[in-house]
Amino acid sequence: MGRHKLIRFEVNAQRENVIEPGKEIFSEIKGNWRKFFKNDNPIVLEVGCGRGEYTTGLAGIYRDKNFVGIDIKGARIWKGSTVAFQNNYHNAAFLRIKIQNIEEFFEKKEVNEIWITFPDPRPKDKDERRRLTSPRFLQIYKDLMLEGGMVHFKTDNLGLFEYTLEVLNSGEFPIKDLVFTKDLYNDAELLKEHFGIQTTYEKKFLPVVKAINYMRFRFA
Ligand SMILES: C[S@@+](CC[C@H](N)C(=O)[O-])C[C@H]1O[C@@H](n2cnc3c(N)ncnc32)[C@H](O)[C@@H]1O
Repeated sequence: MGRHKLIRFEVNAQRENVIEPGKEIFSEIKGNWRKFFKNDNPIVLEVGCGRGEYTTGLAGIYRDKNFVGIDIKGARIWKGSTVAFQNNYHNAAFLRIKIQNIEEFFEKKEVNEIWITFPDPRPKDKDERRRLTSPRFLQIYKDLMLEGGMVHFKTDNLGLFEYTLEVLNSGEFPIKDLVFTKDLYNDAELLKEHFGIQTTYEKKFLPVVKAINYMRFRFA
């Protein structure tokens, strides 16, 4: 492992805003997020958060909500954790887990809102189950969320976006209030809701693909 990564892991181990294996809080956090944040505010997740630009960006704007960025990669989480630490965003935290295990860390109905930001597209048919917008993951999100909670999904990958629309239109998951665009930067109304936040992958791929896809919906 590189020296930089090791240093980041050491910092994560000391940071109160990083919840990861090896810490006492890791096995105690389920059902205790409000105690952790010391308030009863709504809980918003960013799954596959990478460096957590939405987690920290929105935490700075919505001080009355709690944000949890989730990713398996500690070196990426370190970045978001550092931004939150340096800005005193006590309403932002990071959880280092595999998203398929998320139910071990949140009670049913403990979550108010979910952001899925630029997940790996996993274009091969055999990898469908691994897509973060596959029926398997949508079912997990639905179980975690309070009724009426909003799911946001942003991607540069048109194939994954259209796949997700197909899953939602199949009726397997009754939804409401679906709004979407295949060109976020030419939709002034929806763009406003993003406050100029761009993720690392977005910055990398926007110049290549030219258009960013975005949708939001609620489970009915
Ligand atoms: C393409 S990157 C996007 C990162 C960030 N959201 C962005 O837009 O810059 C996908 C991220 O999802 C994480 N990831 C993918 N599958 C995951 C899983 N099953 N559990 C936890 N993290 C996962 C990866 O580690 C990676 O950081």
